[in-house]
Amino acid sequence: MKPRVLLTHPLLPEAMDYLASQVDLELATKEIILPREALLARINDKQGLLCFLTDVIDREVMDRAPELKIISNCAVGVNNIDLKYAWSRGLLVTNTPDVLTEATADLTLALILATTRRLIEADRFCREGRFRGWKIDLFLGQELGGKTLGLIGFGRIGRAVARRARAFNLRVIYHDPNRQEAHLEQELGVEFRPLDDLVSEADIISIHASLTPESRHLISRERLRLMKKTAVLINVSRGPIVDEKALVEALKAGQIWGAGLDVYENEPAIEPELLELDNVVLLPHIGSATHETRRKMCFMAINNLLRGLRGERPNNLVEPNS
Ligand code: GLV
Repeated sequence: MKPRVLLTHPLLPEAMDYLASQVDLELATKEIILPREALLARINDKQGLLCFLTDVIDREVMDRAPELKIISNCAVGVNNIDLKYAWSRGLLVTNTPDVLTEATADLTLALILATTRRLIEADRFCREGRFRGWKIDLFLGQELGGKTLGLIGFGRIGRAVARRARAFNLRVIYHDPNRQEAHLEQELGVEFRPLDDLVSEADIISIHASLTPESRHLISRERLRLMKKTAVLINVSRGPIVDEKALVEALKAGQIWGAGLDVYENEPAIEPELLELDNVVLLPHIGSATHETRRKMCFMAINNLLRGLRGERPNNLVEPNS
């Protein structure tokens, strides 16, 4: 008998066909948001769960599924899963690291450029038929060369952004609970800073940390006050790392110059006032959204799931202290 698996949302078609050929598959919903009652009702007899960052997999969900062996998250971030409870129950939890590093780093640079050079504002201006000709002060932005990029979080994605930053002649400083060894810092051309020093020194701050109780509101009202008036904040990691209300205030007061966001504190809701501001670029959580990467994420999540169901060690196990 094939193992029973709950897939919370559709995968890319090719991946879904493959998964359906390997397991007894139930798709929970075709909607963007899976109603919690549907998740709770459908998980009950499943041995495997393939889910996404939009699904909250907590104690109640796990308790409904006495036969559950593995939770395979089709995302690198696992803040949507109560890891401690899953581990205490002996459940395997997996994610999809590495395959999305380059795509997310590309998007970070795209957001940095879109924000500092006001690309979206300028595009809107053209579409509204307002371009009347070249002008000396039309859409003046911020130049990258010689500026300082401050990376908060220096894991795979932070390091991939640092590599790209060199091509733009940016100086890179970083903060991470795990400081790199001196020779690696030298190799990557980056310097470590305590968090508050980074925040006050950087011209562009870009967040690449995971969401944990410690990183929630790391960019607080107080830290926003430490930023330069000309500085830009970029977030492609998780929304709750930034106090979004405080960010709105800082942007409105001209306390910082701009922001580029791919993630939000109460996703998919966006602070309504952000929508009114010209000095923000807003994207709908598309950091890893390339054909290549999303295909790899789907198959990686499936392979993790199948290995776990067969009693083998999945390749991308999320373990305590990993
Ligand atoms: C996307 O945000 C992911 O965690 O994969």
